[in-house]
Amino acid sequence: MTTTTPWWRDAVVYEVYPRSFSDASGDGEGDLEGLRRRLPYLSGLGVDALWLTPFYTSPLADGGYDVADYRDVDPRFGTLADFDALVADAHRLGLRIIIDIVPNHTSSAHPWFSEAVRTGEGRERYHFRDGETAPNDWRSNFGGPAWSRTPDGQWYLHLYTPDQPDLNWHHPEVREEFESVLRFWLDRDVDGFRIDVAAGLFKHPDLPDLGALGTHAPGSPMYGRPEVHEIYRNWRSILDSYPGERMAVGEVWTESPEDLALYVRPDELHQAFQFHLLLAPWSARAFRETVQTCLDSPSGRAPTWVLSNHDVIRHRSRYGAEERSRSALMFILALPGSAYLYQGEELGLPEVFDLPDEARQDPIFFQGKGIGRDGCRVPLPWSGTQQPYGFTTGKPWLPQPSDWGRLTVEAQERDPSSMLSFYRRALALRRTLRGTLPPTLEWQEWPHPEVLAFRRGDLVCAVNFGEEPVEFQGDVLLASGPVAEGRIAGGGAVWLRS
Ligand code: NOJ
Repeated sequence: MTTTTPWWRDAVVYEVYPRSFSDASGDGEGDLEGLRRRLPYLSGLGVDALWLTPFYTSPLADGGYDVADYRDVDPRFGTLADFDALVADAHRLGLRIIIDIVPNHTSSAHPWFSEAVRTGEGRERYHFRDGETAPNDWRSNFGGPAWSRTPDGQWYLHLYTPDQPDLNWHHPEVREEFESVLRFWLDRDVDGFRIDVAAGLFKHPDLPDLGALGTHAPGSPMYGRPEVHEIYRNWRSILDSYPGERMAVGEVWTESPEDLALYVRPDELHQAFQFHLLLAPWSARAFRETVQTCLDSPSGRAPTWVLSNHDVIRHRSRYGAEERSRSALMFILALPGSAYLYQGEELGLPEVFDLPDEARQDPIFFQGKGIGRDGCRVPLPWSGTQQPYGFTTGKPWLPQPSDWGRLTVEAQERDPSSMLSFYRRALALRRTLRGTLPPTLEWQEWPHPEVLAFRRGDLVCAVNFGEEPVEFQGDVLLASGPVAEGRIAGGGAVWLRS
């Protein structure tokens, strides 16, 4: 069957959080060279593309989502030459590279902002205001007010940390700068961009109070402003002007599926993350409704399924049991669309809840919005039986649990029943099925209400959300665990050919 489907439409994309992936320099923080050396592992895993979270020059006030130089690599992650070597090697192995673009805010260490504070020049590129009190009632997403003061008493807006001042997208230089940044990386051969806070960028020009409105509600003065779509139309034309199928996926939080759909109109972004499964409880009904809502929405043209990322509690811990994590993977890999995996989920890593306070680095923890996201960012265990588990020759920037020896790549590679072996089997099988399955699904009636099953062509995926085993019929292509007497265990799943 010949197909003209663009690669990203049904790709499996693996999110790399470079600081925690693999450290070649020995300073305790992952880097691009560490990642490059591990590329054979990722190609062997069977993913199609890597999405790298920010590695740009940054004080790391928010894990690199505070960019001081959009055209360079932070020394702790390496150099531009390391980046080029990484892209070249990845491409040789058939892996595409998507990088993060952070257009809503810069770092306070960005020359534009530091100069604005020091000399007053260029303040119009940000949102500066005078006044005795903060200009409005907006709150930072990480807790506390969204306004801070410069030493001379002016207020500036920051929807995240005070070290991430929001840019004023009504200023033409801001637009021009990001167009140039996109070209800079496209010229270095990246295959796509993940756009941070993609519904942000523009604010209502009057900066009115939010009042009782939800931050992301229709009509919010903070997010989802109509002007942003012109920017994405423009970016799309830049992407389309390059050879190959360059793409963009937006991190878009909206309250309504209709609003989400606006970002993936044919001349805008290629995809927008559908985060709904992140929020769905472990239940047949919730999963079915979530998927159906996503597919019904106009953004369902290019579905993206996500179980974990660097901002949420790892799904191994959300779902409680390992078998459920395997089943959830089988579920999303069988759906039409693309799947975004997060580093370490293939090892079944749990969230690390008990990090000592003094080790924590996430600004969410310090700004009072909860325990923060460090627990899903703990460096990966590669080999050995104790910290640093082959991640570094130094001291890992976050401590690793003492019982991760059984979860290392080295330990799991030897074990055909491990999570890693299971991921490899599932991803290999999905590759062989790619292009043979229709782009839609049909829900299947099942005698047991706690089983959720759907068909795509010859493939049936059935997940048992209940506790008790249930019977099934058909030839098993893949199972989340041992299949005894034609039964799917509680929390288990099967792919059947029938
Ligand atoms: C979303 C990113 O995924 C998150 O890690 C970051 O803190 C915020 N955007 C702000 O850039």
